[in-house]
Amino acid sequence: MKNLPIWLTVLLELSLLWPCALCMNFIKSVTLQYSSPNHTRVKRGWQWEPLYVLEEQPITQPIYIGQLKSDSDKEDGSVRYILSGEGAGTIFIMDGHTGRIFVLKKLDREEKPFYTLRAQAINSLTGVHVETESEFVIKILDINDNEPTFINGPYIAEVPEMSPIGTSVIQVTAVDRDDPTNGNHARLVYSIIQGQPQFSIEIKSGIIRVASQIDRETKDQYHIIVLVQDMIGNLGALSATASVTINVSDINDNAPKFQLKTYDMSIIESASIGEIVGVVLADDVDTGKNAEIVYSIEDRGDFDVFSISTDNITQEGIITLKKVVDFEKRNRRYHIQVRAENKYRSDLYDLTTIRVTVVDVDEPPVFLKKEYYMDVLENATVGSHVGSVTAKDPDSASSIIRYGIVQNKYSRFFDICKNGSIMTSQPLDTETHPWHNITITATEAQNPALVSEVQVYIQVIDVNDHPPELQNEYNIYVCEKTKAGQQVQTISAMDKDPVFNHRFYFMLHPEEASNENFTLIDNSDNTATILALRNGYSLSENPVFYLSIIISDNGVPSLSSTSTLTLQVCDCGMNNNVESCINRGFLWNFFNSGAFIAISVFTTLLLALAVIVHIKCKKSPIHFSEKGEDLKENIVKYDDEGGGEEDTEAYDITGLRHQTVMRENKRKRNIRTDIQSMYRLSLGLGPDVAIFKEFLSEKLEEANADPCGFAPDSLHTYSYEGTGSISGSLSSLETSSWEMNVY
Ligand SMILES: *[C@@H]1O[C@H](CO)[C@@H](O)[C@H](O)[C@H]1NC(C)=O
Ligand SMILES: *[C@@H]1O[C@H](CO)[C@@H](O)[C@H](O)[C@H]1NC(C)=O
Ligand SMILES: *[C@@H]1O[C@H](CO)[C@@H](O)[C@H](O)[C@H]1NC(C)=O
Ligand SMILES: *[C@@H]1O[C@H](CO)[C@@H](O)[C@H](O)[C@H]1NC(C)=O
Repeated sequence: MKNLPIWLTVLLELSLLWPCALCMNFIKSVTLQYSSPNHTRVKRGWQWEPLYVLEEQPITQPIYIGQLKSDSDKEDGSVRYILSGEGAGTIFIMDGHTGRIFVLKKLDREEKPFYTLRAQAINSLTGVHVETESEFVIKILDINDNEPTFINGPYIAEVPEMSPIGTSVIQVTAVDRDDPTNGNHARLVYSIIQGQPQFSIEIKSGIIRVASQIDRETKDQYHIIVLVQDMIGNLGALSATASVTINVSDINDNAPKFQLKTYDMSIIESASIGEIVGVVLADDVDTGKNAEIVYSIEDRGDFDVFSISTDNITQEGIITLKKVVDFEKRNRRYHIQVRAENKYRSDLYDLTTIRVTVVDVDEPPVFLKKEYYMDVLENATVGSHVGSVTAKDPDSASSIIRYGIVQNKYSRFFDICKNGSIMTSQPLDTETHPWHNITITATEAQNPALVSEVQVYIQVIDVNDHPPELQNEYNIYVCEKTKAGQQVQTISAMDKDPVFNHRFYFMLHPEEASNENFTLIDNSDNTATILALRNGYSLSENPVFYLSIIISDNGVPSLSSTSTLTLQVCDCGMNNNVESCINRGFLWNFFNSGAFIAISVFTTLLLALAVIVHIKCKKSPIHFSEKGEDLKENIVKYDDEGGGEEDTEAYDITGLRHQTVMRENKRKRNIRTDIQSMYRLSLGLGPDVAIFKEFLSEKLEEANADPCGFAPDSLHTYSYEGTGSISGSLSSLETSSWEMNVY
């Protein structure tokens, strides 16, 4: 405690006098103090001097640091000093006579800030302690020999972009080993030498703060260098630097942005729905989730023609076709507006315009209808117009269309004209083919590779060409005892037309309106009943009645026929039933029929002939026998076609030459008449003979060589030999060739 004022003085002195003069003055002042008359020492003892050693002092020879002295030392050599303790003899030595202490080595305060030693003063002669052994301390004085060092480095910090100014980012800390109690040796100050103006540092605490707005999209990482100095940064300060890496983290603060203001795309008109038209990409400078984009099409323009989807991996907007586009239609160019929107912030978006141009491709012709249904009357003459198909070239070039019929079972019945009209080329018959389904092709004249097909269903409409007729040839008997109102017979009708729901109507012929003997009731079920109107009929008085009736059908047009029923009166025997009349009826019929008359006449003639022959025979029997043989042979072989010139067995050729010629002539005539009658039949008036129909159609075709007024679309060739030949036909119609050439 008593040393305190001296201690302070030393401190003052130290800063001024450096380094050697210090010791001297120090001692002087101490002496001064001590020799002050005011300071009276009551007790004798050690004269302690505070002892200091500057650290890091280079030592070439022992340096005096102070002196110990006993009050009782008369400086006559009687007192002897002894030093012991830390470093005694190695670091510190003492002059035993004078008590002066020297330091021998360079010392480091940071290693050991003070040394504790002990001192003794003894009488050199007697060895008696002059003073009690005492402890004292040699302090090591600090010099600023340690630079500050950063701890806890390296420094890496993260701060979100756009953080408010003053946001704390990280604190850096440095330490200084110098004596914090001695001057400013350990008083540190921080500063930034690189990294301004975005960041600042608090001088004392080392807290780094945001100093201005930072934008990750501009710079996402800062390397700032922090300087720390001791001595409060004053002259002679030691310093250290540390690097701080500051990563700027993203916030979703940027809108997506399309790379282009407008995009031009194109699509071929034949593109199908779902095909990709193009791809757009908007950039969002944010990262990660903040950059996720959703694309959509704005609700205007041709928004309904396209759709857009987002590729979550590439963040692209993929535009696909939603509707079929057509170059030939008005719209060759579509406009849509596409929006790219931030997935998490709908206020962050961008718009772009996309122009889509439709590109023309050469397309096959297109029929105006998907399929055609046509009908034609069964009785249509060859060359009748059935219907028309139309195909158009969808391309703007609009090239000429050629039509053709794909060959099938029915194609030979029709021709097609340049304008797409379908004509009949053969007579049709519902009864054999109710439908003629054909395929029509359309080809572009310029590009025959582009072909379209269409189905044409042609229904042959049945013409009511058969009138109804009676189901049977009825043999009707009326018993004599029949009462008025009694049923005589039920009749029904039939029709050769293949109509599904035939309906027949029966009525009496108008002539019979006043018939008081019989009437006819239509049963409304395609039958009719004959009723007796009289009580009793007389076989002898009036054996046969005739009743004219009309049967009509429900066809279009309605056809009707008139039939006359023959009603025979019969006595009906004991049982009063018509069974017994039927057998008799046969005979009656026979005798009433022409056959009976013919046989009678024939028999009469035969008898007459026999008589004549008999008379002739008697006159020249030889001649008759020759003639008779000749006649017989001719009669028997007449239907034989013969073996030609080589067949000499059957005939005397010379004798028969005349006959052969005759026969040929006759056959030709027959064919002609057949043809004529068949021609009538082919118009629906007779049985169906397909072979003849074909033959006739050829004939007809020759007649109207061209149904369309230009070169025939089809050519049919075959030959016809006729029917009825026993040896059969030489050219088989089954194998006749059919050819069709489409122009
Ligand atoms: C075909 O039949 C219909 C109906 O019976 C008739 O009107 C038309 O004249 C007939 N056509 C020919 C060519 O015979
Ligand atoms: C033709 O087409 C019609 C209508 O589709 C069908 O009823 C008929 O069975 C077809 N005929 C043939 C022979 O294919
Ligand atoms: C009806 O019968 C009577 C008597 O047999 C006959 O005179 C008359 O001609 C008959 N009428 C007709 C329309 O047949
Ligand atoms: C097509 O041409 C034919 C003959 O040249 C004619 O009869 C027909 O009416 C025409 N069809 C159309 C639809 O013009």
